[in-house]
Amino acid sequence: MSKSISGFSKLSKSHKIDWIVATYFNNNEDAKNIIKQYWNSNIKLQQLHDEFIENTITNYYLPFGVAPNFLINGKMHAIPMAIEESSVVAAASKAAKFWLERGGFKAEVLSTTKIGQVHVMYYGNPKTLQSFFKHVKPKLIQATKSLTKNMEARGGGILDIELRDKTQSLDNYYQLHATFETLDAMGANFINSCLEQFAKTFREEARLFDGFTEKEKQVEVIMSILSNYVPNCLVRAEVSCPVEQLTENPSINPEEFAKKFIQAVKIAEVEPYRAVTHNKGIMNGIDAVVLATGNDFRAVEAGVHAYASRNGQYSSLTHAKIEAGIFYFWMEIPLALGTVGGLTSLHPLVKLALELLHNPSAKELMQIVAVAGLAQNFAALRSLTTTGIQEGHMKMHLLNILNQFQATDEEKNTLINHFKNHTATHSAVVEAIKDLRLKNNK
Ligand code: HMG
Repeated sequence: MSKSISGFSKLSKSHKIDWIVATYFNNNEDAKNIIKQYWNSNIKLQQLHDEFIENTITNYYLPFGVAPNFLINGKMHAIPMAIEESSVVAAASKAAKFWLERGGFKAEVLSTTKIGQVHVMYYGNPKTLQSFFKHVKPKLIQATKSLTKNMEARGGGILDIELRDKTQSLDNYYQLHATFETLDAMGANFINSCLEQFAKTFREEARLFDGFTEKEKQVEVIMSILSNYVPNCLVRAEVSCPVEQLTENPSINPEEFAKKFIQAVKIAEVEPYRAVTHNKGIMNGIDAVVLATGNDFRAVEAGVHAYASRNGQYSSLTHAKIEAGIFYFWMEIPLALGTVGGLTSLHPLVKLALELLHNPSAKELMQIVAVAGLAQNFAALRSLTTTGIQEGHMKMHLLNILNQFQATDEEKNTLINHFKNHTATHSAVVEAIKDLRLKNNK
């Protein structure tokens, strides 16, 4: 069994690597070389990345791609995407190009409210707690003034604080449920700082409140934290066109395509097993842009999937219909994003990604991200309901398989050409590279 260690965090980076390599890799120099191979030669840049997290030993690369031709609300965008999965960027690009010729994407931010909660246990009369809350609410707001000053000057801040009685779900459980406007910041630090101040003031004032009994004064704060469920920080993205313009391929009838496409969406609306995969395809687009722009994709994922279950059953995030001969395809999703703060001004590639997007406001970024998700879903559903997903996916995955076999540039060219006219399954590619090498060795 490998050894445990105390004080690992205090070791230097090179001592951390020595310990890891000795303990888990039998002192194999290859492991050390791989770790070091990913270091950036620019020492300052490397140090910046080292300091983003703790116990950093190296960098983990993800490809950073670009999907051009996105027309969103009349403005052209090339969208940056950081993702490891082949065919996602190609699919987004293909959908962008398709909709470019049909008026592009429309996107609209419906709301921008974020939520944070102080979770409290109170052992007493609920009515007395209500009157205490009335008394303390202005003090809660007042106590955060130094925290909210700058945000308020920009037009944001605390929108409201409610006392919520949750004792139906859990004995003695109440919440301070607060709503915030954080403008271009994702706002996690701002919200959490406000909540911790609410908690402190709430507890202190409770001890002093004459209306409480001694027992009631012992209000217990369990925790204070923002919620990543943001159903009121919502963006809508949409495409539409006359049904007859819906396919480029003359062998596909547009009416039949539209009907099948809509059925595919309806299946995802009613069938959770399908909905999860359907939404995963949407998240291919969303996460890639969220990551490229330095936002928190775990927060976005958690919030989006909670939203997909808001009616009691996990369901499709996208919807489609035909009305008066027009095909509509749309999605509304919650997205709490920031374009200031966090990594946005620290990570040089994040800065570049935001610059590529014309330095958007958080609202504009919400629209761009939602569009990337919708485009991705359109591309996946189009493939699924026509050729099947494997044809395009394997075409893009081909290079990965060839790289596994350390194919030379010449071999890659030959086989990419070969698979333009042949179905690229994993075994067919393996077979083809072996045949090619046999032929070349003759
Ligand atoms: P195609 O028709 O063979 O592509 O599509 P093409 O070679 O005719 O090129 C047309 C355009 O597609 C290009 O225009 C690009 O925009 C784009 P151009 O740049 O030439 O003017 N494109 C590319 N962009 C960058 N690099 C490339 C590239 N190739 C084409 N190499 C394609 C091929 C893969 C785009 C198509 O088959 C497709 O959209 N497939 C869907 C792929 C997909 O959805 N992948 C996601 C991973 S699968 C998954 O995890 C999700 C899923 O489970 C979700 C669900 O079930 O709903 C499917």
